[in-house]
Amino acid sequence: MTAAIKARERAVAPYSKFKVGAAVLTRAGKIIGGANVESASYGLTCCAERVALFKALTEGENDFIAVAVAARTDGGAMPCGACRQLLAEYARQAQVFVADSRRPRQIKAFTVRELLPGAFLTVP
Ligand code: THU
Repeated sequence: MTAAIKARERAVAPYSKFKVGAAVLTRAGKIIGGANVESASYGLTCCAERVALFKALTEGENDFIAVAVAARTDGGAMPCGACRQLLAEYARQAQVFVADSRRPRQIKAFTVRELLPGAFLTVP
């Protein structure tokens, strides 16, 4: 969670002003952070979770055991549907931890499976 809170400082959120940080932890102990990046064409915005995941994947990591998400809102921000899909595909074994960045020890934990039951995982 500390890494997610740190990553949040680099969010590029000029439209919503809602900064989110995420960090993925590999089985080998490597932590890779990311933050949301917004676009004037709003739909192009990429969430913190996907930025962290894409950074890690393109650095050659593919074995993730945890994902932390930090945002300044009561209870923290739950991953959106798009992020759940990507986590189901590339971080299926990971635990997902969510917290309000102001209360980093109050953490909610989820499995990726419970966040997206019945995920679409293979193209027929
Ligand atoms: N956002 C994230 O980065 N992660 C979440 O889990 C929820 C939403 C971002 C996307 C957008 O930049 C802003 O929060 C408002 O939706």
